[in-house]
Amino acid sequence: MTGTGKHPRRSPSLRVAIVGGGIVGHVLGRILVENRHRITAVVSRSTASARRCGRFLSCRNWSTTVDAIPQETRYVMITAPHGAVQDVARALARRDGFSWRGVAVCHASGMLTAAALAPLHDLGAATFSFHPLQTFPRDFAPRLIVPSARGIVYGVDGDAVGERRARVLARALDGHVLHVPPEMRAFYHAACVVASNHLTTMLGILTAFSHDIAPERKDALRMFLPILQATLHNVVVTSPARALTGPVARGGADTLARHFEAILKHAPALIPYYARMTLETIRLAMDKQTLSHDQVNELTRLALSYLDQPLQPEESL
Ligand SMILES: NC(=O)c1ccc[n+]([C@@H]2O[C@H](COP(=O)([O-])OP(=O)(O)OC[C@H]3O[C@@H](n4cnc5c(N)ncnc54)[C@H](OP(=O)(O)O)[C@@H]3O)[C@@H](O)[C@H]2O)c1
Repeated sequence: MTGTGKHPRRSPSLRVAIVGGGIVGHVLGRILVENRHRITAVVSRSTASARRCGRFLSCRNWSTTVDAIPQETRYVMITAPHGAVQDVARALARRDGFSWRGVAVCHASGMLTAAALAPLHDLGAATFSFHPLQTFPRDFAPRLIVPSARGIVYGVDGDAVGERRARVLARALDGHVLHVPPEMRAFYHAACVVASNHLTTMLGILTAFSHDIAPERKDALRMFLPILQATLHNVVVTSPARALTGPVARGGADTLARHFEAILKHAPALIPYYARMTLETIRLAMDKQTLSHDQVNELTRLALSYLDQPLQPEESL
């Protein structure tokens, strides 16, 4: 009851089965539980992962077979690895006496579309892809990742009913859907890789720089935290071009030449990376319109001269 005496509007509790007791199954399942939805079954490949995930989701009905999924289930979330999704869909479709009418089935793969669930669609299930646009590192305890998985976007495709059911499931997880046309799926997934994996790689490179600059500091990367955070903020509130500062944006070819010499001395394997990123930064600075034609040419020539340098075998990764 509210103070006005009216009943608050609350969406009915969803009944969801999870197939795949890994990190994504743990985290998304836990948000559903915390949001008062019900996990009807946890199915996984091994007894150990099914039991672990079942316990984390307060679900006693854990199993290694999809036959454990009860008919009352309205959503089946396949959070098994990418390569197992179609096998799981086929195993579900083989179930005897299970009615798929009114049941929605989705998978969490970034690369696969709703077509991976075709056998279930043919049996009358609503099907959709449901890719959480977030990173779920397996080495982290699931409870530590749960907060970062609230309010995220889910990359979705499916038929009209499937997309409607996807919106309901996303709301139950405090998230939103982004329709990704099937022909754009690989491009969308590549963008996710840039956002997370490439950023992680860039931070790995920064870690190597930090160790050389301040070897005595165990937390050397933390020196860069304020500049990293401010950069992210500035890009998000304006645009990459407007947030760009530094030698490329100023046309500082002399500074960059000295950078290349220093990197050649301390971390020669990183020369191609620095040269390629300089070329991309020149492109961004051109959008910003701070460089003259001559400056663009001078910076480009410099970066290309290092990009073309053959690496010694021990420098290549
Ligand atoms: N990790 C991420 O950052 C991330 C982000 C977005 C989307 N995704 C997608 O989410 C899905 C799950 O990823 P994840 O990182 O959670 O993988 P994961 O940690 O490797 O977990 C996969 C789970 O599925 C189980 N499994 C394997 N084959 C199965 C089968 N045939 N039937 C039932 N369960 C099976 C595994 O069981 P065992 O442990 O017993 O082998 C494991 O518990 C993948 O499609 C992935 O592409 C992942």
